[in-house]
Amino acid sequence: MCGIVGYAGEEEAVRVLLKGLKNLEYRGYDSSGVAIADGTHLFLEKKAGRIENLERAIDPNAAKGTCGIGHTRWATHGAATDENAHPFFSRYAKFAVVHNGIITNYLALARFLGERGVFLTSDTDSEVVAHLIDYYYTGDVLSATLRAVKDLNGSFALGVVSVYEKDVVYGVRKDSPLVIGRGKKGNFICSDLSGISEDCEDFYTLANGEIVRLTPREIRLFGFDGKERSFSFEKTSGLDLAKKTEGAESFMLSEIREVPTSLAMTIESYPEEEMKRLLSGKIGRFCLIGCGSAYHAALLFQAAMRELCGVRTEAYVASEFLTERWDPSGDPLVIAVSQSGETADTLQAVRKAKSGGAKVLCVCNVRASSLVRLCDAALITRCGVERAVAATKTYAAQAIHLLRLALTYAEISGKMKNEELALYKKELALLPEKAQEAIELEGYLSDVCLRVRDAEAVFFLGRNADYYAAKEGSLKLKEISYVYSEAYPSGELKHGTLALMEKGVYAFMISTNPALHEKNASSVAEVKARGAGAIAVTNESAAGLFNADYAIAIPDCPFVFSPVITCIPMQFFSYFTAKYRGCDTDKPRNLAKSVTVE
Ligand code: F6R
Repeated sequence: MCGIVGYAGEEEAVRVLLKGLKNLEYRGYDSSGVAIADGTHLFLEKKAGRIENLERAIDPNAAKGTCGIGHTRWATHGAATDENAHPFFSRYAKFAVVHNGIITNYLALARFLGERGVFLTSDTDSEVVAHLIDYYYTGDVLSATLRAVKDLNGSFALGVVSVYEKDVVYGVRKDSPLVIGRGKKGNFICSDLSGISEDCEDFYTLANGEIVRLTPREIRLFGFDGKERSFSFEKTSGLDLAKKTEGAESFMLSEIREVPTSLAMTIESYPEEEMKRLLSGKIGRFCLIGCGSAYHAALLFQAAMRELCGVRTEAYVASEFLTERWDPSGDPLVIAVSQSGETADTLQAVRKAKSGGAKVLCVCNVRASSLVRLCDAALITRCGVERAVAATKTYAAQAIHLLRLALTYAEISGKMKNEELALYKKELALLPEKAQEAIELEGYLSDVCLRVRDAEAVFFLGRNADYYAAKEGSLKLKEISYVYSEAYPSGELKHGTLALMEKGVYAFMISTNPALHEKNASSVAEVKARGAGAIAVTNESAAGLFNADYAIAIPDCPFVFSPVITCIPMQFFSYFTAKYRGCDTDKPRNLAKSVTVE
């Protein structure tokens, strides 16, 4: 987890690093820090809490220099305190190090250092790296870093500065992402491009086992064997930094409002011929992998393939996929879904599938990500950068790519009649427009949330694809507002959970399949009979069937497509509930947007 940035250039490094850290804050915001190397000594400031705390603590007269490293942390080892914040100094402040990843053998390394009289000042796994580099230093920083890296197990992207070399930053990568950026006013390392893309014209993504040495004028790349490597840059032009829309008070709100545009751009970019070629290959089964919202999007492919093509698929939470004995036989096509393309569990699951010989397609929002590079083919969602921690527009865009893919499979496998297929394709093309209609519900959802914001718990209910949509609605609410929430298949309610229905609790019913409205309406009635409140999201044509306290009508569409639309009122519901409960909707507690540790 965490975000790291490094700079060697002509500008004041502290300003550049703080800007980079603010862009990277979505990777973690438990603490942040910078180390500036002025050629003779290292300046260090680090603070628990948000970057504003760090900014306030920095003495601009002391933080002089045009070369440095910075870090924003999502705590894994050790609480979110000043002491556990990065960068870490080695003894006598000769080296400063920032780290993203987990050093799994840090206890053994701490013992090794302790036996040599070097003791840690923090509870982190990261601090050992600074001390090891110092321990191995005999006059050459590159060699010392390479030697230290040999001792490290686990995953790491590192940034290193020292008092020994003026204007030099090192970046190291093994299993945690790191890019190099080249700009007009200096060179950078960064966890991902969103941290530095405004100031860089070219970038290169480090491969595992590479180390870069940056100065303001020179970038040299080496393997862990110490041999210099050649590499070429790619252009950063066209990379899109999310900006808050006019008048929006948070990234999350503006990103919900961007759902229709993201859907339209994503459909337009669907590479139909490439997907036809891919799906015409030998495919015996489909297996999907993802985490959180991306997993919920994967479930929508499962529903679509089952309902539209009569084909059963397997969808896995990536971390669970890693625990199972997975059988790669039967020509599986594995589809990995991830907004960032950097989620460690997903990447590991893909590696496992590939090592079994499976072909892997990914659905991803970041073309320059580790996942896209790892996979055989990619469907890129066109959402621009998503800055709020909660996935909103990217979930909808993943869903629309996957639904389109299911239709392509229906077409080439002959699982659907031509007329029916044409109808579904037409309906899919209408989704951005229908999503825009759902955006108009913002004001109503805000009013609903003013009334239900004190709910003790909210149970999201649905059947089939609506149940999968409910899972996403529930995740969104708990992660943003901290209201206790679960998703249940509506029919399962009476098998236990009805016991929790009482005053102060709400059921949030999603019912978009006309064949299931009556059953779902009965579930709402059962909930209300026990004193709980009810909110129902239904098709316009079903309005009036549900005796809910609050009724939300979305435009009619084929029910396996409806999660693309129902997600919008649910996202507004989470957003406004969180807002009225005084929560930070862009940066919820205990979370980070990119989960780059397993
Ligand atoms: C929820 C959310 C997370 C992510 C999950 C996977 O709103 O954002 O559940 O969906 O951490 O992240 P990606 O999609 O980057 O692999």
